[in-house]
Amino acid sequence: MSVLSLVVLISGGGSNLRALLEAQADAEFPARIVAVGSDNDAEGLAHAEEFGIPSFTVVPTSFASRAEWGAALLEQIQIFTPDLVVCAGFMRILPPGVVAALSPNLINTHPALLPAFPGAHAVRDALAAGATQTGVTVHVVDEGVDTGPIIFQQAVDVLPGDTEPELHERIKAVERQLLVAAVLDIANNRVDLRELSTK
Ligand code: GAR
Repeated sequence: MSVLSLVVLISGGGSNLRALLEAQADAEFPARIVAVGSDNDAEGLAHAEEFGIPSFTVVPTSFASRAEWGAALLEQIQIFTPDLVVCAGFMRILPPGVVAALSPNLINTHPALLPAFPGAHAVRDALAAGATQTGVTVHVVDEGVDTGPIIFQQAVDVLPGDTEPELHERIKAVERQLLVAAVLDIANNRVDLRELSTK
């Protein structure tokens, strides 16, 4: 069995990261996180520490340009020579040079049914639009904002009176399972990222 090595990028609490860390506690799970990266001193880095996984932080404000930040981030990622990079709540758009270097082995999870509600406030935007259904998309990252080929999607109903945190928590419960399922299928070659990206 070949095992897929992963670098996971986060910006926040890292519950999706944790779901992957818990999945890989099963020796049969065909992927292993080799490092966790962040753009800030994210709370979720504690999960990496708890599981003994190395981490790195590359803060954009330490660089003169987005391109330079991207190059520094890419350098850190490439130290670990991952088969796949997973953006799991990474709240920055990766510069084109980073996408080009990692593509198509670069995926993202997003809390909406893309192409609806792309961007950084997907849950808020769905509520503001009065949507009765939203959900989760796991997709390949391309140079657009949340525009890459879709791997998996799952719907989540918006309930009357939902607040943004309530709805986001229900979305995240679905998202964690979908992300683990996507990594599993990529590792088992049931999902071919190269083929998806050339369609
Ligand atoms: C997730 O819902 C993820 O889809 C979202 O941030 C959350 C991170 O949660 N990402 C985006 O909105 C990217 N546009 P987590 O830190 O608990 O995994």
